[in-house]
Amino acid sequence: MTALLREGEATGTQCLVCKTPFRPFISFGRQPIANAFLRPDQVAGEFFFELTVGRCDACGMVQLGSLVDERKLFHEEYAFFSGTSKGMASHFERFARTMRGRLPSTDPLVVEIGSNDGIMLKHFAAAGIRHLGVEPSTNVADVARASGVRTVSRFFDEELAREIVASDGQADAILGANVICHIPYIHSVFGGVKLLMKPEGTFVFEDPYLGDVIEKTAYDQIYDEHVFYFSVSSLSKAFAMHDLEIVDVEPQSVHGGELRYTVQHRGAGAVSDNVVAQLRRESDLGLDRADTFERFRERVERSREDLVDLLRTTKAKGRRVVGYGATSKSTTVTNYCGIGPDLVEFISDTTPIKQGKLSPGTHIPVRPYADFQSRPPEVALLFAWNHAAEILAKESDFVAGGGRFIVYVPEVQFIP
Ligand code: SAH
Ligand code: TYD
Ligand code: ZN
Repeated sequence: MTALLREGEATGTQCLVCKTPFRPFISFGRQPIANAFLRPDQVAGEFFFELTVGRCDACGMVQLGSLVDERKLFHEEYAFFSGTSKGMASHFERFARTMRGRLPSTDPLVVEIGSNDGIMLKHFAAAGIRHLGVEPSTNVADVARASGVRTVSRFFDEELAREIVASDGQADAILGANVICHIPYIHSVFGGVKLLMKPEGTFVFEDPYLGDVIEKTAYDQIYDEHVFYFSVSSLSKAFAMHDLEIVDVEPQSVHGGELRYTVQHRGAGAVSDNVVAQLRRESDLGLDRADTFERFRERVERSREDLVDLLRTTKAKGRRVVGYGATSKSTTVTNYCGIGPDLVEFISDTTPIKQGKLSPGTHIPVRPYADFQSRPPEVALLFAWNHAAEILAKESDFVAGGGRFIVYVPEVQFIP
């Protein structure tokens, strides 16, 4: 059963995992939908909600204080296409290869939750491996289907898991990247995994890691789609409620720092030392202490002042500033810091569906990459800082010509 929460409802805030009331430790004020790039005629009806995050004292889960209906976020005009980064394409090729090496030899089944444009599953499809993608956003799902990926356009939950078991049988591997933390009805998802996964099967997923968000002051990871900010400590408790356990964790450098979790039925596999080591790191980082999050809030406020100061002085020197990458993360930054077209002339982005639109809330025009190339600015504000390696390699001419990037994670600064 998909327990949809009412729109903008402050979970009032009750922990989505253990139902204990909690209070937000940070507010980003009124925010629009992070991926809702709009046409000028849509500005009048733009939707806003209060973006807050809190930590449940009882189970330690860090989560949003209010939610936006998933049907407002994931639909036939979803703006995020996984395949827009070459770095991510190779990451998912490696991920698929690793998983293939672990599959049993006889007719395995792989199910991916949030398969988007098929960036990962196409490698299973090409190898003739039985697979199914679960992807509610129909426009990205159509791209996956076009590359031979069998895809069902539904939201994954326990009910769908039951249907998949009936039609396809249980899965050897259930995969998910940047999606499990998006789904508020976490018990329905974990209950579904419990049903769908074979006795010896694995559930392998990766999501932005709370430790990285805190360590790097990466507050732009906080937006409507990211309902949970997972740690091993909080997730272990949630999985235990379903007789599931985390048997391995592996840090990933993508998207600003993630953790890949391998989960099995309780007792089905040995628990790696990595899990214990990561739990120790979490306690060293203070992820179990309220003051850690108070200090995070102070650093976020300072980051906002530093960024706005730097942009203002840069503009005062007569330099053109253009945004690089119309990321969903940038929606939190621009709205929280009050960065509009007065400070950032336009945002360059390679995704066709975003081009010609306005950034959510702050209405900065989004333009094709050709506009950046034909008339490069003096300064590029790197909203896609998580793809810095790929972008800096690609923009060596821009840098050689005197162009500079501003980043704000982990500190507000010019690079190179
Ligand atoms: N896995 C891809 C896409 C991440 S974006 C990657 O890492 O690049 C998150 C995707 O999850 C979106 O395509 C969205 O439509 C999908 N999604 C959101 N809620 C979902 C749910 N309940 N079940 C399955 N997919 C979901
Ligand atoms: P990303 O940081 O992956 O996602 P999120 O929306 O989750 O914050 O988004 C990267 C955006 O940047 C995407 O819209 C594509 C764009 N982009 C470019 O314009 N040029 C590039 O070279 C790269 C790598 C991305
Ligand atoms: Zn809780």
